[in-house]
Amino acid sequence: MTLRALAFALLATRLMAHDIITTNLTFTRDISRIFDRHCATCHGPSSEIPLSTYEQARPWAVAIKEQILSRAMPPWGAVKGFGNLKPDHALTQEEIMIIAAWVIGGAPQGNPEWLPKQAHGKPASPSPSIGDALTGSNETKLTEPIRLAGIRPLADATVESARITARLPNGAVQPLIWLYRYNPKWNRDFLFREPITLPKGAVIETTAPVRFVLETIN
Ligand code: HEC
Repeated sequence: MTLRALAFALLATRLMAHDIITTNLTFTRDISRIFDRHCATCHGPSSEIPLSTYEQARPWAVAIKEQILSRAMPPWGAVKGFGNLKPDHALTQEEIMIIAAWVIGGAPQGNPEWLPKQAHGKPASPSPSIGDALTGSNETKLTEPIRLAGIRPLADATVESARITARLPNGAVQPLIWLYRYNPKWNRDFLFREPITLPKGAVIETTAPVRFVLETIN
């Protein structure tokens, strides 16, 4: 083989090599921790698209970058600023940049010993235990006062847009949540920053047919 052909062959293998790693960020040290906090509740080991291990996540790397940059994942499914909801799942700007830079840099694995010790697939912070559940639909009149901690939609199909409000006996209207392009596969609950006290006789109304569970605490 001539020197020139050898150089060419080397170049070809180099180009054919799967990825050229240009980042120090790794799955085991950096990305897995973010995924544990923000994705594992839905992308755990037994989910449709598990992202718990490097082998599972790597084929999705480009899709992951697109989903987080467009803020499609983690999904929200409600209009921000309507009602007083806890912003529990959102990634910070810094986390978004870390994930994007990891993907652009070739999505390397890193040393398996750097993986977080905690079990995968468990939410980092369990949601507060919620006592009673009351299922409502278009118009639900409360027969007793409740303290509302959260709402869980029970949809069979994507909810394009549905505002859920509470009309109090004195006529005031309290905004609860505005579901927007909520995909039932997300199967999530929306918690309020503070529980909302609603008196007996309050009517929960929705602008589109949607069933939901009212999660109450004492
Ligand atoms: C509340 C549940 C939930 C959370 C949290 C969540 N996902 Fe998803 N994700 C889903 C579901 C359900 C799908 C299946 C597609 C669909 O119907 O929306 C999906 C699909 C995806 C896909 C595939 C998109 C495609 O190309 O089809 C990627 C990639 C993804 N999620 C990444 C993430 C990442 C990364 C996080 C965390 C930063 C995350 N998701 C958090 C529920 C969730």
